[in-house]
Amino acid sequence: MLSLTQFSLKDIKNSVVEALGRLKIEDYLQEAEILICEAFEIDRVKIYTGDYKPSEKQLKKLSTWLEKRSQHIPLGYVINKAFFYGNEFYVDENVLIPRSETEVLVESVVKLFKDNKLSNKLIADVGTGCGNIAISLTKHLTSCKIMATDICPQAIGVAKKNIENFGLEANITLLKGDLFRALENYKGKIDIIVSNPPYISEVEMDALSKEVRCEPYKSLYGGKDGLNFYKRFFQEAASYLSKDGLMFLEIGYNQGKSMRVMCEASENFSFLQIKKDYRKLDRIICCRKN
Ligand SMILES: C[S@@+](CC[C@H](N)C(=O)[O-])C[C@H]1O[C@@H](n2cnc3c(N)ncnc32)[C@H](O)[C@@H]1O
Repeated sequence: MLSLTQFSLKDIKNSVVEALGRLKIEDYLQEAEILICEAFEIDRVKIYTGDYKPSEKQLKKLSTWLEKRSQHIPLGYVINKAFFYGNEFYVDENVLIPRSETEVLVESVVKLFKDNKLSNKLIADVGTGCGNIAISLTKHLTSCKIMATDICPQAIGVAKKNIENFGLEANITLLKGDLFRALENYKGKIDIIVSNPPYISEVEMDALSKEVRCEPYKSLYGGKDGLNFYKRFFQEAASYLSKDGLMFLEIGYNQGKSMRVMCEASENFSFLQIKKDYRKLDRIICCRKN
């Protein structure tokens, strides 16, 4: 796709912009810069000062990455990187690429601790994926211990790599298992449960973009109405929480009403709040154990 004889940085940038534009990639200008900076290991400003000569190897890498992008493999999987809550995470096709909406979940929990001067709590992150929520919380709530679980062994491998990269092995325990199964020893001891479970409904699955379809089915599909995991959380989570324990769950933008009804109908939890994301869409449900 990219001719290796094009050695001027300006030419290369124009080629990449054109190629990504042709592919109808939404943020093609920004993606072009990211691909070039990552492939050539340079800062963005170098693209415009034009005084950098990429090696044959770097050009080859850029070409391979563009080829992958043309197959609609998401940028995060192409460069094996994603940014979340101000930090960089390793990601690959075994995990969901962290979304900025999920930062609202982290922000809500961090605010709860600050406002109430909380410390030394036990938190469970259920369905940790690449570990983005657990790691972000740990970096801000240093006195807390986090149990991070996932059903997918490959996702556990990715989370382990990230936890090691951040040097947080002492703060986060990784466990493989279906929802709370790996937390049997912590019944009644967890102060806060956080989770961004799979919540895409059957109908929505059919309408996903080619990029999102590359992400693991297990991290997306939430059953026919998208609510399967929430039904389980409202039934199973309370016995793992300590007295007055809290639960913060990410939800789909169109699930706020059903989730409030589900929470209010539950014998185990009281509804506290639904928080909106940066686009003012329903995103996080907060509830307290009865
Ligand atoms: C939507 S992704 C969230 C990943 C990450 N926490 C984030 O917010 O970016 C859901 C995660 O839940 C995991 N998962 C799916 N079913 C599960 C189950 N029954 N028990 C535990 N984890 C599960 C998936 O493997 C996936 O990593």
